[in-house]
Amino acid sequence: MRGRFLSLEGGEGAGKSTQVRALATALQARGCVTRVSREPGGSEGAEAIRALLMQGDAGRWSARSEALLFAAARADHVEKVIRPAIARGEWVICDRYLDSSRAYQGAAGGIADADVLALHAFGSEGLLPDRTYVLTLPAEIGAHRAAARDGAAADRFAARDAAFHDAVAAAFERIAEHEPDRVRRVDAAQAPDAVTAAILADLEPWLA
Ligand code: TYD
Repeated sequence: MRGRFLSLEGGEGAGKSTQVRALATALQARGCVTRVSREPGGSEGAEAIRALLMQGDAGRWSARSEALLFAAARADHVEKVIRPAIARGEWVICDRYLDSSRAYQGAAGGIADADVLALHAFGSEGLLPDRTYVLTLPAEIGAHRAAARDGAAADRFAARDAAFHDAVAAAFERIAEHEPDRVRRVDAAQAPDAVTAAILADLEPWLA
């Protein structure tokens, strides 16, 4: 079976990490070799960049330097981990990927989408997932879930205001609308099992 690359996207508290794990378990049960990863991070170099990105106050990086750091982390992750795994025939399931940069640094951070895509074209030679799932959730529920999970440990991004998170959610919606072949919305207000089942149903043609 050929390798596939899946990414999960969505705002804070949408349950991406839970779904990444559940999906990996389900795909393994179907005989796929799976590899779970995350961004920012996922490779040694990218995890080092992650620490720079996630810690410190909200104004630590300008929007442009932040976009470059995310793109640099992704380039390392793609080259060292994602492309080799796909080449070995594995299924890579990534918690966030390029669309997070388009939503957070782009739509919410004020960087043009074309510029985010240009950084990706250079850094990661434009690698896109075979399929991306956007987990959608009303903003209040996401904020509530994330607060319950993180408490006072909210990172630089989770600490941003409601308008920022609304812009992120709207960006994911726009991306899903414009790239229906790659990007599918999944209602994350459902029970976790139902979310996993919806994703697996969508993947069925690749599993047959
Ligand atoms: P993380 O703690 O991994 O968790 P979660 O996905 O549950 O929010 O946080 C990663 C943060 O980094 C998140 O707030 C989104 C942000 N981010 C970007 O701004 N741009 C990116 O390209 C990526 C991958 C993440």
